Amino acid sequence: MDTALPLPRRTRVGIVGAGPAGLLLARLLHGHGVECVVLESRDRAYAERRQRAGILEQGAVDALRACGAGARLEREGIAHDGVELRFDGRSHRIDFPALTGGSRVWVYAQTEVVKDLIALQVAEGAPLLFEAEAVAVEGATTDRPVVRYRHAGRDLTLECDYVVGCDGFHGVTRRSVPDGVSRTFDRTYPYSWLGVLADAPPVYDELVYAHSPRGFALASMRSPAVSRLYLQVPNGEDPAAWSDDRIWDELDARLASAGSRKLERGPLTAKSVLPMRSHVTEPMSHGRVFLAGDAAHIVPPTGAKGLNLAFADVAVLARAFDHLARTGSAELLDAYSDTCLRRVWRAEHFSYFMTTTLHADPAQSPFDARLQLAQLHRLADSPHAAAEFAHNYTGHFPG
Ligand code: APR
Ligand code: PHB
Repeated sequence: MDTALPLPRRTRVGIVGAGPAGLLLARLLHGHGVECVVLESRDRAYAERRQRAGILEQGAVDALRACGAGARLEREGIAHDGVELRFDGRSHRIDFPALTGGSRVWVYAQTEVVKDLIALQVAEGAPLLFEAEAVAVEGATTDRPVVRYRHAGRDLTLECDYVVGCDGFHGVTRRSVPDGVSRTFDRTYPYSWLGVLADAPPVYDELVYAHSPRGFALASMRSPAVSRLYLQVPNGEDPAAWSDDRIWDELDARLASAGSRKLERGPLTAKSVLPMRSHVTEPMSHGRVFLAGDAAHIVPPTGAKGLNLAFADVAVLARAFDHLARTGSAELLDAYSDTCLRRVWRAEHFSYFMTTTLHADPAQSPFDARLQLAQLHRLADSPHAAAEFAHNYTGHFPG
């Protein structure tokens, strides 16, 4: 947004946060002719470089195509028809289309999704203001909620008909819901992920999830030349304690299975430790203030659901605002929270299942460790269990 232009003082839908949720919502509303303004606390470079996951469900791909942000995804995204599970000396591939009647996923980094959405937003609108930090959302139960924000050293106010908090887990919008109204549900996991980006071609065509007595490992990718790799590490681990060689050696040790190839090595270009938590805030709305994406829920990254849940939330919201604009009825807005929470809790359970089944919990009993292996063998031996996994992983949640 050209800040030489007068700053908007009011809008129909005020969106706090320009991550995947806020950006997609703005594009979908713009497409429906619903006026909105996006306020983002950081600068464009920050928003575009945050390393996050890279798996898109078909619904997310469809939403990006529908709002005109699918061109580069078509060229550079990689369709995947399965993932490989490695455990107890076995290697087993889950075949998504065969088990779900055709569903698949796409590998396309969240950084690229955000770049594509920002580029469209800047070119076509709706207004997107960077370095505009919301400090409060007020008047949720009135018909004129406001966002108080700071920009260019000034204290400003955006008057709205509705506010959507897309400001992530540490945003301010969730705090506008009084404690007595909202309930939160949390789980923290006793391990984290050390994630690296490597200028090294992926040696596997699909993602490989490995359960090993040494801990979990995941081999993913960003392009034919860039690998994205993860290792389970203790909470609070310092990335600097892991040399490149130590990381490569540990990845090879944990990913090893009968006949598997060692990874291609190359310079590591990013290294960070990601804690793992589950969180849900209920309800996901209060009066005319709505929460979407990480502002409402967090999943451990194992199931690659964070971005896809955020997109699913805002797709429901965009349909609800379009319905309101066409019919005058707020019935879909009123149902937003219940509509989203069914999918959210299904994804929370799947992410919890993947995380607790694949990671070596330092405190687990030998009995629990055997149950993990029994669950993994069940996925490999039972078509019913594999089909449930495939439906959950591809976001093909029938019903
Ligand atoms: N005012 C304005 N913007 C804010 C504020 C604030 N007070 N607080 C946070 N933000 C911005 C952040 O800078 C960030 O750009 O809100 C955005 C929130 O984006 P995400 O955290 O990416 O959340 P979401 O859009 O819901 O996307 C969820 O992103 O973080 C990953 O793993 C997560 O894949 C998931 C996806
Ligand atoms: C990633 O590519 O970053 C990725 C893929 C699958 C996951 C988590 C992260 O489950």
